[in-house]
Amino acid sequence: MSAHIIQIDNVHKSYGAVQVLKGISLTVPKGQVVALLGPSGSGKSTLLRCINHLETINGGQIRVNGELIGYEERGTRLHELPDTRIARQRRAIGMVFQSFNLFRHMTVLRNVMTGPVDVLGKSREEARAKAMELLEMVGLPDKADSYPSQLSGGQQQRVAIARTLAMEPRVLLLDEPTSALDPELSKEVISTIRALADQGYTMMIATHEMSIASGFCDRAVLMADGHVVEDRAAAEFFADPREARTRQFLDHYAKTAH
Ligand SMILES: Nc1ncnc2c1ncn2[C@@H]1O[C@H](COP(=O)(O)OP(=O)(O)OP(=O)(O)O)[C@@H](O)[C@H]1O
Ligand SMILES: [Mg+2]
Repeated sequence: MSAHIIQIDNVHKSYGAVQVLKGISLTVPKGQVVALLGPSGSGKSTLLRCINHLETINGGQIRVNGELIGYEERGTRLHELPDTRIARQRRAIGMVFQSFNLFRHMTVLRNVMTGPVDVLGKSREEARAKAMELLEMVGLPDKADSYPSQLSGGQQQRVAIARTLAMEPRVLLLDEPTSALDPELSKEVISTIRALADQGYTMMIATHEMSIASGFCDRAVLMADGHVVEDRAAAEFFADPREARTRQFLDHYAKTAH
């Protein structure tokens, strides 16, 4: 099996006549943390949504852990999988969104336990112990019995991360995990994500927050106009960008950062 846990091969995606992804290819080895950068509308969210088949694709293939996502090959043609099989594939792919989407009527602890109990069939005891471990990891063990409305945005996002991890995903996709938060609360969430990076989680993070991309991502990928413009080790991407388009992008951030 390939050493690459995520394999994106020549993916095309259109909405009606609008071509958003025009042949994206990327492979991510296990344990790598990739920052997905690009101007608004460049297709970052679309690409992440294609990886766990929240969107169908019009061409190309996506594999996670060697398994073709969303489709099966019959002869030379691809057929979309039935919902139950797509749901099973999605369990291996954790997704964290900008808006945390916690269950408002459940305590923090139940938010984190519910997937493992209801979907993975774990016992309540096992799920509770694991949930407490994860709440500890994101720094919120004392909020286990609180409701989401009693938490700050940053705390809610850390619960959302714990809830995603409770499903024991093989990869984590984070779509602008800090953009709904003010800078102080962003910091808490960024240090949580950094801790996941240190623990060896494979992650793709779409972000406009350059401190994430340059702070601890291994690799930076710039998307623009439906293509990958530059894809390099993060240190080189920031210190010595190769493409004029990358320099323009970084200049824009340097100007608007303060
Ligand atoms: N469901 C949809 N229907 C039609 N067009 C869509 C849909 N979702 C996204 N688009 C279009 O696809 C393009 C890419 O959007 P996408 O959300 O992937 O960009 P992005 O890089 O994540 O931007 P941002 O940085 O603002 O989050 C945009 O032009 C957007 O308008
Ligand atoms: Mg987006």
